[in-house]
Amino acid sequence: MKNDYYLAAMPIVAPSLLSANFLNLQADCDLLNKSEADWYHLDVMDGNFVPNISFGPMLIQFFRKATSKTCDVHLMIEKPERYLTAFKEAGADIITVHAEACIHLHRTVQQIKELGIKAGIALNPHTPVASLANVIKEIDLVCLMSVNPGFGGQQFIPATLPKISELKKMITETNSSALIEIDGGVTLENAPAIVEAGADVLVAGNTVFKSKDPLATIASLKRIAS
Ligand code: DX5
Ligand code: ZN
Repeated sequence: MKNDYYLAAMPIVAPSLLSANFLNLQADCDLLNKSEADWYHLDVMDGNFVPNISFGPMLIQFFRKATSKTCDVHLMIEKPERYLTAFKEAGADIITVHAEACIHLHRTVQQIKELGIKAGIALNPHTPVASLANVIKEIDLVCLMSVNPGFGGQQFIPATLPKISELKKMITETNSSALIEIDGGVTLENAPAIVEAGADVLVAGNTVFKSKDPLATIASLKRIAS
């Protein structure tokens, strides 16, 4: 059984604001708010865990004010435990940390949950699904990276598809309520196979914000059936 919190029609569509127009974020927030998108996917990068730098809690406070949709915060930062309270106070509903960035991953997950919000773990393309075996029942979301994190607009890595199926099996067998989120290179062309493999949440940056009609693109993603 999935958590009540997620009683949205599947798949959940989570546009990544990394691909938005930062000179006019209000327009892109207005667009998402009137769209069928379920979540705002907010990519935080520290120039250390990943080669790029994006934004932090200050901007997330503004996104929080701009929407009542779920703020899904993806932390691509070293030692994310230092900033959990800051991101919760900024308005995160979900905080996802990278397994590769946490020495005490289980403790970090507990700390997120103690803040009263949802906890997710992200895995880089090289990190095996099996590494989640001892924490899968504790978490609300697994973010499988389908590109190497750091930039929008990269090509989907096809080896992600068998990882989705393997993760789905682990979630079913352990009766975990974790959702499977796919992040990176999701397009209207590859989304059906991704959902078919077992994905619950589609992150889409360039596919949404670089499309001619973002509202229609979001609606099409929303209608992909498994
Ligand atoms: C990559 C980020 C993604 C990215 C997705 O490091 O985590 O969320 O913005 O962008 P697209 O969909 O363009 O690959
Ligand atoms: Zn992301």
